[in-house]
Amino acid sequence: MDEKTVYDHLRESGFSRRDFMKFCGLLSGMMGLEFLPAAKLLGAAAGPSAAELVAGALKSKPRVPVIWLELQDCAGCTEAVSRSQSPSLVNLVLNKITVDYQETLMAAAGFQAEAARREAMARYKGQYVLVVEGSPSVDADGVFCVIGGKSGLDILRETAADAAAVIAVGNCAAFGGLPKAKPNPTGARAVSEIIADKPIINIPGCPAIPEVTTGTIAHFLIMGALPATDGLKRPVTFYGHTIHDHCLRRPFYDAGKFVERFDDKEARAGYCLYKMGCKGPTTYNACPSLKWEKGLSYPVQSGHPCLGCSEPDFWDGGGFYKGQSAPVEQPTIAAAGISAGVGVALGAVLAGANSVKKRKAGKPGASGPDESAK
Ligand code: SF4
Ligand code: F3S
Repeated sequence: MDEKTVYDHLRESGFSRRDFMKFCGLLSGMMGLEFLPAAKLLGAAAGPSAAELVAGALKSKPRVPVIWLELQDCAGCTEAVSRSQSPSLVNLVLNKITVDYQETLMAAAGFQAEAARREAMARYKGQYVLVVEGSPSVDADGVFCVIGGKSGLDILRETAADAAAVIAVGNCAAFGGLPKAKPNPTGARAVSEIIADKPIINIPGCPAIPEVTTGTIAHFLIMGALPATDGLKRPVTFYGHTIHDHCLRRPFYDAGKFVERFDDKEARAGYCLYKMGCKGPTTYNACPSLKWEKGLSYPVQSGHPCLGCSEPDFWDGGGFYKGQSAPVEQPTIAAAGISAGVGVALGAVLAGANSVKKRKAGKPGASGPDESAK
């Protein structure tokens, strides 16, 4: 194992102590640690901030090597990481601190790349984190996905055997994703159906939110273990709420104001997309808070119903854009006897607050649902 600490690596990359503390603050934010009581972190007594605790860990811990495999995928999760809203942070965590092998991003190719994987496996035996993007195929001995003359299924089993933990990134790795959609011609499976003897965590999404991927790797780096998960092995820090819970169109849902067609005046006004098939009420993900494209927007804000891309079998789960005639529950504001108009006003207030917050942060995409919805 590399004897140098993460701090040593960062200092060698030209980091000043001030840069380092800023980096620790960003990391603790990315991991959601600042929302936890300090005493719960790293077993420390109450007192230091989350950033100081992260700094202490990075000064004493060696870097965590990461091997990133791609199986049956579109490389969308890799693409998302390379377009992260915090590219310098993601670049630091993935390129400078962790990743030893990543088929799409690494310079090596062919036999040279495969040799790099085997070398990283031997050098960091039992200590590396295996990130898997894409689903393994089991039919016909995995012949539908062959890399360097070896099936993806065999590569997955071989690489997972000496891994300390496995992170399944994207819906394909977490739940089988699009390759597993009916009729599933390749026999695609979730990684957790193949690898059962290792700590494993799922980061579903199509693609996965890059800050969630990086935050989960950072958690392992700092805490030495994977974060707490829900019943589908998803980190609760990022999948603890539905899209609906934090949706900026929620006041319209509560007020019973719905879009009926993509080009109607309700769509232009940014009303709720439930009747357009929005799966937000049953989909757990962090899109409304983390968003995409440098925090610009996410599907529902841009006028598109949530398709449920972080849930199992979302592609086969009853179809997209299917009109849902009435919300699952009665709208809460209406049920409380408050008029729909109040809900509309509340929506405007929330959109305004969002706009002010964005303007203060100097960000575009300020006023509730995107212009693209209009
Ligand atoms: Fe919920 Fe979707 Fe309506 Fe938002 S647009 S309030 S997530 S149903
Ligand atoms: Fe996916 Fe729904 Fe977010 S479609 S990207 S979970 S808003």
